[in-house]
Order: sequence, then structure tokens, then C-alpha cells
Amino acid sequence: MNILVLHGPNLHLLGKRQPEIYGHQTLNDINTALDQFVASSSFDVTLKILQSNHEGELVSIIGEHIDWADGILINPAAYTHTSVAIRDALSTVGLPVIEIHLSNIYAREEFRHHSYVSGVAAGVISGFGAYSYILALEAMIHILGPKLTNHKDIV
Ligand code: DQA
Repeated sequence: MNILVLHGPNLHLLGKRQPEIYGHQTLNDINTALDQFVASSSFDVTLKILQSNHEGELVSIIGEHIDWADGILINPAAYTHTSVAIRDALSTVGLPVIEIHLSNIYAREEFRHHSYVSGVAAGVISGFGAYSYILALEAMIHILGPKLTNHKDIV
């Protein structure tokens, strides 16, 4: 199964960016943890991991993967709260989407409580720091596993 992992704006600065909110792990640490999870999975998973600070670029990337990806994990970062375009791109490709946040957006400022993406997501994982990404990957494998036949072993 092919899973596209998208990191939105400012996430390239994780580790330095407000560590009291987002933790000390860098984006590279998170990506390495995802790769390690995949390596230990009994499913045949291929990840493609990309980061962009630009809304239009994220929209283009989502569209370009319509035929490649079986599912999308996305932390839209600040665009969560503003972007109809990213929501529309996700609905357009029609793939299962899991929305990820490091912080618990519902325990923060009110403007973070609304997400344009949640309405087109299979689910949302928010508040577990870097581990949110692993939980989301596990959830995506849970969604896709039974639909696809190329897993190495049935567990
Ligand atoms: C975030 C939460 C957003 O509100 C914020 O704009 C981010 C990161 C998170 O992962 O907790 O950039 O998506």
C-alpha cells in the first residue's frame, strides 16, 4: 500500500519551534520513526513523505498523487484552520485521509478549534506529539489492510 505523508507549513522547524507545545523531536526524527514503523510492519507499505510551506504546492502534491496513493496522512498545520483549497483537493482525490496534529488543537486558542479538513477525513489524531504520526499510520494501515491484497502476512 502506498501512503502519502504531508507536513504543512512551519513543521520543517520542529525541534526549534515552540518545543513546549510541539516537543523536541525534529521533522527528520518523525520521518525516521515512520520509516522504522513501516520496516517492522507485516504489511507491504511504501511511504512518500513531503513537506511544504505553500498552500498551492500542497494542493498540487495531493492532486499529483491521485493514482499513486492509497491513503493520505496530513498535518495541514495552520492551513487546517484556513484552507478550503486543501480540503477540496483531498475530496477531489477521494482517498482515505487521516488528519494529524502534534498538539491538542481543542485545548488551544479558539481559532484552532475549527478544521476545514476534518469533514473530509476518516479520522483525526491530535495531541500526542510526534506519536500522533505513528498512531495515524497504524490507523491508515488498519483502514487499508483489508482492502489490499499485497500484505506479507495476515495478522
Ligand atoms: C498543528 C496545530 C496547528 O494549529 C498549528 O497551526 C500548527 C501545528 C499541530 O500539529 O499541532 O502549525 O497542526
